[in-house]
Amino acid sequence: MIKKYVIALDQGTTSTRTIVFNQKGDIISIAQKELKQYYPQSGWVEHDALEIYNDQLETLNKAISGSGINPEEIASVGITNQRETTVVWDKITGEPIHKAIVWLDKRTTDICKDLEDKGLSNYIKQNTGLVIDSYFSGTKLKWILDNVKGAQEKAEAGKLMFGTIDSWLIYKFTKGKNHVTDYTNASRTLIYNINKLDWDEKLLEELNIPKSVLPKVQDSSSDFGSIDYKGTLLPIYGVAGDQQAALFGQGGFEEGIAKSTYGTGCFILLNTGEKRVESKKGLLTTLTCSLENERVNYALEGSIFAGGASIQWLRDRLKIINNATETEAICNSIPPLKNVYVVPAFAGLGAPHWDSEAKGSIYGLTLDTGREELIKATVNSLAYQTKDVIGAMEKDYKSKSVTLKVDGGASANNYLMQFQSDILNVKVDRPKMIEVTAFGAALLAGIKAGIWIKNDIAKIRDIDTVFVPKMDKNSRKLNYKGWKKAVKRTKTN
Ligand code: G3P
Repeated sequence: MIKKYVIALDQGTTSTRTIVFNQKGDIISIAQKELKQYYPQSGWVEHDALEIYNDQLETLNKAISGSGINPEEIASVGITNQRETTVVWDKITGEPIHKAIVWLDKRTTDICKDLEDKGLSNYIKQNTGLVIDSYFSGTKLKWILDNVKGAQEKAEAGKLMFGTIDSWLIYKFTKGKNHVTDYTNASRTLIYNINKLDWDEKLLEELNIPKSVLPKVQDSSSDFGSIDYKGTLLPIYGVAGDQQAALFGQGGFEEGIAKSTYGTGCFILLNTGEKRVESKKGLLTTLTCSLENERVNYALEGSIFAGGASIQWLRDRLKIINNATETEAICNSIPPLKNVYVVPAFAGLGAPHWDSEAKGSIYGLTLDTGREELIKATVNSLAYQTKDVIGAMEKDYKSKSVTLKVDGGASANNYLMQFQSDILNVKVDRPKMIEVTAFGAALLAGIKAGIWIKNDIAKIRDIDTVFVPKMDKNSRKLNYKGWKKAVKRTKTN
C-alpha cells in the first residue's frame, strides 16, 4: 500500500490535537480535545501528564477513523508540543511522580533568584541562550526533585526520568522503549548547552540534577521510535517544540525569515542561520528544527506569555465575550482607541521585559470606556507586545524586517492582523492554512519518510492575505508611545 499520509500530534497548552495531512499538505481529518488546566495556588499552573497522553491517544484514534484512510497508508508521525512544561516519571512504573509543571507556572521564582545571586546570569545566557526565568524547565525539574518525597534519592539512583511533553508522549507511545527529545525542546530547558549541543554539566551541578534523568537529544527529523496503532507500526519521524515547528512550517529554515504565532502566548522567531546572535535587548537564542546531516541553526526568539490567553480571560473571567471570533466585529464596530491600554501581564512580562513580578493592568479608563473598548484594547495588546519584540529583534539582528509571517488561532482575526501591520509598519503575510505548527511537525516527519523535501513548502504554502500598513506615521507613533508608557507603569523592575 502506498504511504501517502502524514500525521501531526499537536499537544498545546490548552488543547491536544491530531491532524492527518495528505501529500499536498491539505488537512483531511482533525480531532481535538480541550486540556484541563489545574491552578492549585496563585501563579501555579499544572497539567495531568496521563490525561495528556490519553487525550492524544483519543484524538489519534478519532482523526484516523474520521479520515477513512487505512493506517497502512500512513508514512510517518510528527509530534509538536507546548515547550518547557516539565514531566518527571518513575522509570519502573512509568507513572508521573507529580503533575506536569506548565511553562506559565511561576513557583520557581525563588530558585531563579538563587541562580541570579550566584552570578550565573551571564553563564546561562552565553551557554543556553536563555535568561534566568521560571518559564524554562530546569528550575521546574529541580522543584519536583526537591519537593516530592524521596525524588532526589530516586533520581540519583537512576530511577526517574525527566522530559518535556514530546519526550513523555514518545515514552508512552513507544511503551517505555525510548527516552528521547529533539534539539528544539532541549534548548528550552535551561540545562542544555546550545554551543556544544550537549547537556550542560555546570548547570546540572548547580541545580543538583543527575544526568541519568535526562533524555537523549537528536535531530528534529529523525527516528524517535514507533507507535503500535492496532497492529500497524507508525514511525515517529518528526519532533519539535511548537514554536520552532511553526517557523519550519512557514518555510523559516532560511536565515532572515521571521514568524509570529498567536496561540496561548505569542512567539516571534527569527532564523539567524548557523551563527548565533546573542541578544542585547532581552530576546532568547534558541535552536531551530534540524534535519539529519544538516547543521543546526539558531533563532532569536521573543516569547510573550499572554496572547490568546488574554482573549480567554475576556471570555472566561470577565465573561464579556462568548467566543474569540466575535472580537473582530467588536473591534471594527468602534473608532480607533485613544489612550486605553490593557497590559496583559497575567503571568508576568516575558520578552523583552522579563519581569515575573508584574501583574496585568488597564490604563486610560474614562466614563465612556465600555465593554467594546476593553475588548479592543486587549486585542491590540497582542500587536503591541509583538511590536516590542520585533523592535528588539531589529536592533539585535541589525536589519529591518520587511514581512512578518503569521499563524495560530488569533491570526484569523482580520482586525488584529491589519492593526499588527499598521503598528509595525511592515507587511503581514497570512497563509491559507494557519495550522502551521502541526504542518511543521508533519513536514519534519514527511521529510524523513521521503514524502517531501523541505523546498516543497514553496508549492504547499498558499498565501491567504497580505496585510499592508495603512496607519499614518503620527498615529502609529502616538499609539505606541502610549503603550510604552503603560508598560513602564506596569513593570516592577
Ligand atoms: O513556550 C511555550 C509555548 O511552546 C506554548 O505554545 O501554542 O501552547 O501557546 P502554545
